[in-house]
Amino acid sequence: MDEIAFIKNIISIGKVEFRRRITFFSSKLLRNFFPTFVVASLVFISLTLFVFSASCKAKKAESIKEARTGEAAKPLYTIGMSQCNLGEPWRVQMNLDIKNEAEKHPELRVIFKDAQNDSLRQQAQIEEFINAGVDLIIVSPKEAAPLTAAVAAAYEKGIPVIVLDRRVLGDKYTCFIGADNKKIGYAAGRWIVERLKGKGKVVELKGLMTSTPGQDRHTGFREAIKGSEVEVIFEADMKWLEPQARQEMESALARFSQIDLVYAHNDPGAHGAYLAAKAAGREKEMIFVGIDALPHEGQMYVRQGILEASFEYPTGGREAILLALEIFQRKQVPKEIVLTSRYFTRENINQGGESIEKLVAVKF
Ligand code: FRU
Repeated sequence: MDEIAFIKNIISIGKVEFRRRITFFSSKLLRNFFPTFVVASLVFISLTLFVFSASCKAKKAESIKEARTGEAAKPLYTIGMSQCNLGEPWRVQMNLDIKNEAEKHPELRVIFKDAQNDSLRQQAQIEEFINAGVDLIIVSPKEAAPLTAAVAAAYEKGIPVIVLDRRVLGDKYTCFIGADNKKIGYAAGRWIVERLKGKGKVVELKGLMTSTPGQDRHTGFREAIKGSEVEVIFEADMKWLEPQARQEMESALARFSQIDLVYAHNDPGAHGAYLAAKAAGREKEMIFVGIDALPHEGQMYVRQGILEASFEYPTGGREAILLALEIFQRKQVPKEIVLTSRYFTRENINQGGESIEKLVAVKF
């Protein structure tokens, strides 16, 4: 029993001693490290506060700077752009050409509107631009007559108007920019006469005949084939639209067993005709010629062997912005800017095509 009591005693002494040491150790720890801990915390807090306030200051400075540069880069001129439709790659390209050039000039802001192939909507858009007090209007009209009054109204109110690609009637606008459609039609006609060796049966798929490029591409072409034995056996207004061209071509194919060539006023039209001929198993009997020659459309069709030739119709988008800048600088500008055109065939496409001037000058 004594031994047990002795052991118990030893254990309890051990416990007391253990507690005493722990207390001693923690109070020593506190004594030694507490000041260091306090100092470290203070340093940490002040560093955090410093970094936070520095970043706040930087942010504030940045926003002031932003506000200032915002003021400096604030567009000084607003341009309203009314595009007759965005259903065709060529018009999407025109808007892109405008946008890309405008973005190089921070003083310009362009508001784009799409008239969705509706002349009344396009009239309304021009009126909206007038009421909004834009500094300049660019318009690529759907049709000449219905847009004439709206363009004239803007012009008479002192708002400069650049008419792009399709014309309006009269001369109440600041400047017209576009390629010479009559010349393009004529060049296409000369190329076709040569390609058919002076004789053949042709389908002509016309662009919207209430728009000036359609009228001019037709007149130029007819002039060029005059005196040859190239004969137009079928003509239709496909209104610049691929599905419509395909439908018209189906009628032509149903009526005529011999078709040597399709001349379409634009590449979507030529492609629509090709699809109709292909569906009838007759695409190899004839050749297809179009106009526009976008790298990713007409030029691509030429490379693929779908079209034999495509005649370039530049969008004029970049030129319109450059002209707008001149107008804002109060420079004298011409009433008309005529853009040049090239044509692409399998033979010349890898050299970047050739100028149509050559075709126009040559007498066959
Ligand atoms: C696009 C388009 C082009 C054509 C131009 C004529 O709408 O049909 O294919 O070259 O318009 O204005």
